[in-house]
Amino acid sequence: MTQDEMKKAVAEAALEYVQSGWIVGIGTGSTANHFIDALAKMKSRIDGAVASSEASAERLRGHGIEVMDLNSAGPLPIYVDGADEATKYLHLTKGGGGALTREKIVAAASETFICVIDETKQVDYLGAFPLPVEVIPMARSHVARALVGMGGNPVLRENFRTDNGNVILDVHGLRIMNAVELESEIDHIAGVVSNGLFARRPADVLLVGTATGVTKLTA
Ligand code: 5RP
Repeated sequence: MTQDEMKKAVAEAALEYVQSGWIVGIGTGSTANHFIDALAKMKSRIDGAVASSEASAERLRGHGIEVMDLNSAGPLPIYVDGADEATKYLHLTKGGGGALTREKIVAAASETFICVIDETKQVDYLGAFPLPVEVIPMARSHVARALVGMGGNPVLRENFRTDNGNVILDVHGLRIMNAVELESEIDHIAGVVSNGLFARRPADVLLVGTATGVTKLTA
């Protein structure tokens, strides 16, 4: 089974958590795209969706699913999204697609966060995947110096702006032993909008697509 087949299988498994009449929070990335495609099959039974990126909003609209504003739709019963890394504590690194801030907002506004990954994303410690940090452009150098002070090696994501008009620093070289603490510490640097650690609000359910089927971990 290819990695993409595992992503598709796990995304389809998440459909089981969606109930009729709900407005569904939707993540960003290739696994979230598989979920959007699966959700289209039951679109007449849901009331709409809130997207964590312009790309996901466009894909949802392409399937004829109504995309709503979080301010009028929230709080939401469910949020479904992928991740770049996940631990057995359901702590995540996200933001490979650069949508981390909106993803964090929609996850925070949702009752249940279902994270859907393929088995290659499971790790003992977060940090091998460079940690994305969204930064206000004028604070780029200041934030980069602070991240170096924390032991990281921040690299500016080239030719990239987030949906919020900001830049991303991808921080290499971190072996994250306390994700909750580091998430707060990075958020407190002036100029940081948010960072890709999802530990203060981890996933509630982690579905993992493996070569032999989908497994489930809960918090
Ligand atoms: C986007 C994300 C994605 O969930 C993460 O990058 C995983 O992507 P994919 O499902 O394509 O492997 O956080 O900002």
